Amino acid sequence: MSSTELKRVLCPGGAGYIDNHILLELLRTGKYLPVVLDNGHNSKAEACIARVQEVANEEPGLKEKFGGEIPKIDLYQADLTDRSSIDKLFEAYESKGKIWGVIHLAAWKAVGESNELPLQYYENNVSGTLNLLHSMKDHGCQNFVYSSSATVYGEPETIPIPETSPLQPHSPYAKTKVFCEYILMDLAKADSDFNICSLRYFNPGGAHPSGKIGEDPQGKPNNLLPLLAAIAVGRINDPLKVFGDDFPTIDGTCVRDYLHVVDLARGHVSALDAIEKGAIYSVTGTKGKYRAFNLGTGTAYSVKQMIEAMKVASGFDYKYDIVGRREGDVPDLTADPKLAHEELGWKAEKDLQTMCKDLWNWQSQNPKGES
Ligand code: WQD
Repeated sequence: MSSTELKRVLCPGGAGYIDNHILLELLRTGKYLPVVLDNGHNSKAEACIARVQEVANEEPGLKEKFGGEIPKIDLYQADLTDRSSIDKLFEAYESKGKIWGVIHLAAWKAVGESNELPLQYYENNVSGTLNLLHSMKDHGCQNFVYSSSATVYGEPETIPIPETSPLQPHSPYAKTKVFCEYILMDLAKADSDFNICSLRYFNPGGAHPSGKIGEDPQGKPNNLLPLLAAIAVGRINDPLKVFGDDFPTIDGTCVRDYLHVVDLARGHVSALDAIEKGAIYSVTGTKGKYRAFNLGTGTAYSVKQMIEAMKVASGFDYKYDIVGRREGDVPDLTADPKLAHEELGWKAEKDLQTMCKDLWNWQSQNPKGES
C-alpha cells in the first residue's frame, strides 16, 4: 500500500508506555501510519519510536504489507496547550497525506497528584483536548479515539461494570476524563461528521513479548504491577505495602481487572476499524457517532493474587506488610466487556500468567527502566 493510501493516525503523547504498544499495533495492520505528536518534554520520544520500528521490522510478513519497507513513524513537536502548534501540524500534513484520525492518550494520570494540582490537571487534560478537537474540526479530521478510564465509574453499584453505570468520578483526574467524555458526546450531538469512541481502560499491565517495549516509570512506580516488577529486579528495595485487607472481597484486598497492554492496544485498532467501516452507532438524538466502551477482561484479581502471580513469573519471594487503605481505593473494579466484543469485535486474549511473564521478560531485560 503506497504511503498516500495509508491512513495517517495522529497519536499525541505517543512516547508513553501504552502509546508505544499502540504505535506498533497500528503499523502491524499495514494500513494505519502513526504520527507522534510530542511536546518535547519527553526526551525519550525518538528512542521509543526507534524501538517500535525495530520490533515492527522483526514482524514476519509486515514489510510486504507496505510493499517492502515499513514507513517511518513521524515525530512532530507540538503542544496541546498551544493550539497554533496543532494547527501547524494539520497544515503540514495537508500536502503529504492528511491526518485521517486521532488516538488521544496525552494526559496526566496520577490520581493522588491530581488532588494536589487540580488546575494543572484541568488545564493539561481538558484544555489540551479542546485545542485538539478545535484543530481537528478546522482541518476536516473527524475520527477520534479517546483514552478514558474505569475511574469514571467511581465506586460502582454493579459489578461487573457495564458502560451504562453512572459516571461518578472522585478525583480531579477522573473528573477530567468525565468532562472530556461529555465534551465528546456534545460534539457528536452537534456535528454529524464526527465519529468518536471513548475507551475506558481498566488496569493495563504487562509488556510486549519481545521484551523490547514496556513500562518502567523512573523512580518508584505508583501502580501495583510495575512496582512488583521493580521490586523483583532489585530496582526498588522499599518493603511492599498492601493498602488494606479489610475490603469486602475474596481475601480482603482490592480486586482489579488487569488487562494485557497488547490487548489494550489492539482495542484501539478495533475502534479505528469500526469507525472506518461506519460501524459506530449513534445514540438517539445525536447527529454524529459517539460510543464508550470498557476495555477490560471481565476477570479480576486481588492484590494478594497479583503478588502470587508475579512471584510465579519472576521467582521472587515477596514479603509485604498490610497497612491502612489508600485514599480513593474502591473494593472492586471489574469490567463487563460485552459491548466492545459485540460492537468492536474486540476481546482480551491474553491471560494473567502471560501478562506477568511478559512483564517479567521486559523488566529482567531492562532492570534500570526504559532505556
Ligand atoms: C491496584 C491495587 C491498590 C500499590 C490506577 C489509577 C487509575 C488507572 C490505573 C489511569 C489497588 C493496590 C498498589 C501498592 C497496593 N490509571 N496497591 N500497594 O489504583 O486500580 O488504578 O491505575 O487511568 O486511574 O487509579 O491501580 O496499580 O495503583 O493499584 O496495595 O504499593 O493495588 O490499593 O487496590 P488502581 P494500582
